[in-house]
Amino acid sequence: MVGNMRVLGIETSCDETGVAIYDSEQGLMSHALYSQVKIHAEYGGVVPELASRDHVRKVTPLIRQVIEESGSGKGDIDGIAFTKGPGLMGALLVGAATASSLAWAWKVPAIGIHHLEGHLLAPMLEEGTEVEFPFIALLVSGGHTMLIEVDELGIYKLLGESLDDAVGEAFDKTAKLLGLGYPGGPVLAKLAEEGAPNRFKFPRPMTNRPGLDFSFSGLKTFAITTVQENGLEQQTKADVAHAFQEAVVDTMAIKCRRAIEQRGIKRLIVAGGVGANKRLRERLKEEMDRLGAELFFPSMQFCTDNGAMIAYAGHRRLLRGQAPETDFGVKPRWPLYEL
Ligand code: KG4
Ligand code: ZN
Repeated sequence: MVGNMRVLGIETSCDETGVAIYDSEQGLMSHALYSQVKIHAEYGGVVPELASRDHVRKVTPLIRQVIEESGSGKGDIDGIAFTKGPGLMGALLVGAATASSLAWAWKVPAIGIHHLEGHLLAPMLEEGTEVEFPFIALLVSGGHTMLIEVDELGIYKLLGESLDDAVGEAFDKTAKLLGLGYPGGPVLAKLAEEGAPNRFKFPRPMTNRPGLDFSFSGLKTFAITTVQENGLEQQTKADVAHAFQEAVVDTMAIKCRRAIEQRGIKRLIVAGGVGANKRLRERLKEEMDRLGAELFFPSMQFCTDNGAMIAYAGHRRLLRGQAPETDFGVKPRWPLYEL
């Protein structure tokens, strides 16, 4: 095993260009993120072609920036990690092509990382946080809602997932319905703080039957009906946002408790964009305290897509001796349990 490993991470799976340098001894040395949110906002969602073109523009200057900020010189980077999938084909290709050129030019190994593995390991980016295996992971983003048992790095067992909308998607769609713009999750969460606690009560989907799967499309429908009946006056919007968020958060807390009890593993990691939700953090904390279970979150900035989580996952895999990438193909669809 090499004594020290310094890795450049490149994330371009969706609408953020993220790059970072992670060093096995010094930890996270530098990171940079460019969000394309403004570019896509006027379309109400991510436009793939615009995303790829913008990654092309941003990725090289950002890499130059993080290398400089980390004080790395020629020969200091030992490996490159890039997001191989899942994600948008064209966007992923930008990261893969960049990684392949740099690996060739610098004569270092490159390694393709599963985007969700990046999210899962993100809590460990905090200095001094080494989460022991096994643990249960709640992965909640714009494209995924999953409960996973993580037995060790790369060994993932799917315990449950959403049968329809991902939880971030449900936040975004409900926000759109309330006229809050895109991406709606954080805006809806903010508005929910002003909502009256008991005006509306939304259902807790799939909690009254056994199992660890989720369903969120019904909540969106419930929101539509509520708005049709009550209108879209500012306070009503806040009340709907509040009731929606409580229902989502409560449902997730119930399923997490169930997963922990069923698997007998008293460690929960929460990852993905929705992990930034304050109410979810509070509610899970209560629930885990009650169960005597440990709870880990990434810091706010590493909940959503970023390059640091990819650099971190890459450094762990390279240290473990994983063979470097040779084909640099991308996998827009790539189930985690295929790893
Ligand atoms: O992980 P992520 O950055 O991208 C992927 O989907 O991979 O997650 C983005 C999702 C969006 O749906 C966004 O609305 C949601 O996370 N989100 C939130 C919050 N911050 C981001 N949802 C609820 N509350 C938040 N504070
Ligand atoms: Zn993500």
